[in-house]
Amino acid sequence: MLRKSFELEHPTLEREVFGLKFKNPVGLAAGFDKNAELVEELAWFGFGFIEIGTVTPLPQPGNEKPRMFRLPEDAALINRMGFNNQGVEVAAHRLKNLKKEGLIIGGNIGKNKQTPNEEAVSDYIKCFDALFDVVDYFVVNVSSPNTPGLRELQEKGPLLNILQTLQQRNRKNDISRPILLKIAPDLTNDQLNDIIEIVQESGIAGVIATNTTISREGLTTTTNETGGLSGKPLTKRSTEVIRYLHEQSGGAFPIIGVGGIHSAEDAKEKLAAGAALIQLYTGFIYEGPGLVKAIKKSLIA
Ligand SMILES: Cc1cc2nc3c(=O)[nH]c(=O)nc-3n(C[C@H](O)[C@H](O)[C@H](O)COP(=O)(O)O)c2cc1C
Repeated sequence: MLRKSFELEHPTLEREVFGLKFKNPVGLAAGFDKNAELVEELAWFGFGFIEIGTVTPLPQPGNEKPRMFRLPEDAALINRMGFNNQGVEVAAHRLKNLKKEGLIIGGNIGKNKQTPNEEAVSDYIKCFDALFDVVDYFVVNVSSPNTPGLRELQEKGPLLNILQTLQQRNRKNDISRPILLKIAPDLTNDQLNDIIEIVQESGIAGVIATNTTISREGLTTTTNETGGLSGKPLTKRSTEVIRYLHEQSGGAFPIIGVGGIHSAEDAKEKLAAGAALIQLYTGFIYEGPGLVKAIKKSLIA
């Protein structure tokens, strides 16, 4: 019944991006199905792709509850989940038994909280190896505000090290998987220029822009909760980041646009700014699952 109510596919929705065929450009962003527990069911809502994770090598509980807060007046969420997940092996096992039926699966990978930044690369390798056979693309997440020190890995030296190491391993039986980098919306233009260089130097497939923000600009709700802010207050900034990367790089690599998409108009703005595909999270919560179909309908029109 769900599938019948939400399905809507059309040749104009199809996209080929980083060598993969997407039946439509609307995806579910990371953090919703961290442990790959509901991939088939979530696909019934009409997503063209679903990104599982962030997973880490070892299971970890994440931060103490409460760790997620609704800001209904702002159509926003603040979360400080802290990469709660059952560990990469559990997710890999679930994905092995999945009926995919044209659905593209992304694997979003991170490091355990207790792994020092100097050893982070080994955590990314473990997750990469464990998921290689069961996902279609990878996302290196160094942009969550909720693992202490993680975002320092967005600096040029450590980031190049992680991405180049993964790229060197990225070939198995003549198959290689697109690797994307997920970035924070809080980077300066100088840091975004570095990101463009890093993508080109490492030869990775593209960028996901953006993760949640640590900024509280534009909120009407008064709150002292720490964590990453998502939803409507992020819409404008994430589109700015997409546009900047797209223009400065001359469209050299594909960008997945995410951040505050709550309507078909928001989705079109992200695509017009240079995103090849888009993802939803907070808009899916506030607007409900009908948002996926509404966006697709508007794109067909
Ligand atoms: C509760 C929650 C948990 C999230 N967990 C992750 C995560 O594990 N990994 C990740 O890369 N992004 C995570 N995100 C960020 C989203 O994937 C997305 O980049 C961000 O929320 C902006 O999109 P939105 O405004 O549509 O929510 C999380 C977001 C929320 C709200």
